[in-house]
Parts: sequence; C-alpha cells; structure tokens
Amino acid sequence: MKAAIYPGSFDPVTYGHLDVIHRAASIFDELTVSVLNNVMKTPLFSVEERVKILMEATAELPNVKVEAFSGLLIDYAAKKDIHVAIRGLRAITDFEYELQIAQTNKLLSKGKLDTMFLTTSLEYAYLSSTSVKEIASFNGDISQCVPPFVAKLIYEKYGHRK
Ligand code: PNS
Repeated sequence: MKAAIYPGSFDPVTYGHLDVIHRAASIFDELTVSVLNNVMKTPLFSVEERVKILMEATAELPNVKVEAFSGLLIDYAAKKDIHVAIRGLRAITDFEYELQIAQTNKLLSKGKLDTMFLTTSLEYAYLSSTSVKEIASFNGDISQCVPPFVAKLIYEKYGHRK
C-alpha cells in the first residue's frame, strides 16, 4: 500500500491545501494530513480545532485521515512507517524554504523520509493562511480562499458576523 503524510500548520486550511489533498489522495492509497501542534507559535485555531476543520473539509475523501502531531516530522513518520511527505509548492519563493526542509528531513531520517512536491494549481498560487487571516481580520471577503464553513469560523474568531 502506498501511503503518504501531508504535514502542515493548516491555520486555517485553504482551498490551496485542499487542492493538494485531493491530488495527493488520488496518487496514494492512503493520505494522512498531519497537523503540527507547534508550541512555539500561537495559532488562530487550536490543534484540535484545526483537526476537526480538516476532517469536515475532507469528509468525502475515504482514503484521507487527519491527525495532530508534535515533535520532529521524521520521528512521527517513522512511527507510522510512512516514507513520503507531500508539500505544495506555490511559487519560486516557496522553493528555498521547502528545499531546506526536504533536504534536512532526508538527512536526519538517513534517507528514509522523502518529500514529494505538488505544484499548487494556478488559481490558488497566491493563497496563504496568513493572508486569509489578515483579510478576515479586517472583515474582508475570503469566500474565494476557504470553504464557507471555514470562513464562518474564521470571522467568528475575529468577532465579525457574516
Ligand atoms: O504549514 P507549514 O507551517 O509551512 O508547515 C511546516 C511543517 C509542519 C511541515 C514543518 O514545520 C515541520 O515539519 N515541523 C515539524 C518539526 C520538524 O520536523 N522540523 C524539522 C524540519 S526542518
């Protein structure tokens, strides 16, 4: 069985992430979307909220599961006996950062964890969780960026009613 992990912060999940999830789920038999519980950052949504949101957003994909993880990705992947991590590449600006993470993971895992990049579909190439949060914080329109139920939850966090 071909299995992969798609790790990320997903704070919050965007249509760009969902595009990568759909495409990776059609390539692999099983895809685990792994939500980083990063104690160094203060996210908008708790890790439990992000997992719940992702579960709802991927409910129609039977071979996708969602989990939280903390610590090193290579340790988490080794425990699950998974050897491929998926990452989305939006533009050349992502490349340097992503290449650094991929090479570090390859080195630390002694070659056991490889990274596969999926280029984000062009219509989502501009999207980032950070800009979605900024737009929503000013009560701007994020309907093209995230599913309606996610937009509602984001606006609620910023005290906006839609
Ligand atoms: O969505 P993000 O924030 O760009 O995802 C980054 C992520 C979660 C893939 C990366 O920060 C990660 O894997 N963190 C876990 C800690 C780790 O393994 N660090 C070593 C890689 S340099």
